[in-house]
Amino acid sequence: MYCTRNVSDSVVWVGASDRRLALFENLFPIPRGVSYNSYLILDEKTALLDTTDASVTRQYLENVSHSLNGKPLDYLIINHMEPDHCANIAELLLRYPHLTLVGNAKTFAFVSQFYDLDLTGRTLTVKEGDTLCLGSHTLHFFLAPMVHWPEVMVTYEETEQILFSADAFGSFGALNGHLFADEVNFDRDWLDDARRYYCNIVGKYGIQVQAALKKLSALSIRTICPLHGPVWRENLKYLLSKYDLWSRYVPEDNAVAIFYASMYGDTENAANILAAGLAEGGIKNIALYDVSVTDVSVLIAEAFRCSHLVFAAPTYNNGVYPAMYNFLHDMGALSLQNRTIGLIENGTWGPVSAKQMQQLFSEMKQMNVLEPVVTIKSSVKEDSLAALCALKDRILASCTR
Ligand code: FEO
Repeated sequence: MYCTRNVSDSVVWVGASDRRLALFENLFPIPRGVSYNSYLILDEKTALLDTTDASVTRQYLENVSHSLNGKPLDYLIINHMEPDHCANIAELLLRYPHLTLVGNAKTFAFVSQFYDLDLTGRTLTVKEGDTLCLGSHTLHFFLAPMVHWPEVMVTYEETEQILFSADAFGSFGALNGHLFADEVNFDRDWLDDARRYYCNIVGKYGIQVQAALKKLSALSIRTICPLHGPVWRENLKYLLSKYDLWSRYVPEDNAVAIFYASMYGDTENAANILAAGLAEGGIKNIALYDVSVTDVSVLIAEAFRCSHLVFAAPTYNNGVYPAMYNFLHDMGALSLQNRTIGLIENGTWGPVSAKQMQQLFSEMKQMNVLEPVVTIKSSVKEDSLAALCALKDRILASCTR
């Protein structure tokens, strides 16, 4: 049976949610599920904006068919050719014989890479600034390369001032009946997943996101319809300001996150001592994570959120403890920058993890490593306690400046 929501009188959300998938991209845990959004514009001509993942095809096709109510489907706008959005192109071409696919030159290169379809006479190639009139609605196409793939474009509908934003402004999380961000407590229930989605999936492409934000700032936007998560029709400034911070790698909060790895509890002890000292010094809401048991996507999101990051890791195989190394490598790959860093290493003989972590940070931009770097030999003793105390004082001074 169909399950749809109206965005407006003539725009229908025809997407679906998946609560069975454990790992998005077979990589990111999604305990709250995920939605695949697709939108149908009903006018003299009809247009679908993107399709969905194959996992929800049955629901999706019922939604489209019901919403068309016997009308032909004229256009499918392909804003993004990643399979979580394009899996139903072939099925739609079969069901709607007059359907024209609308995309840019890169879109159709990717269509032919993924699928063996005869698209003769069934495509319309658009470029930056092109328009497509549906009747009382007119679509404008803007390229947004690398937000999140090179072929990505966004579509702006001028009459209702709706931005169909592709992956941008999306979030992990299934839609529990609510379609609009103003129907939920976004700050409490969605922001962490929206941040985790952005930082891990688009985080690397801050420069490209900034370019897209600049381009979109010329438009008057009333509603943002992303391909995942809630639709925005109120308080767009809230969301835009988050994206502006994240894409400029500016910390959202003046806050401390401590990330530790600990084989037998001694490095964890150092992390706890530092956290307690910071708390006594007045730092609120300290975040403390064991990197061995916390998914790296959560660690990345917290590193994007917080201004001060402390890393405490044992030496392992003459290098950085593997779970910590993986986290730092991911951080570098996602271009995180502009943070204040504290380092704690542990090693029973030949500790080298701090030196190697420092090397990794030197390859990132604007990472300010505070002195002292703390060395623990097996467990915290008076000398390493004094160094921890000195590091705590440096963090306090930096946080409260
Ligand atoms: Fe939701 Fe880049 O695909």
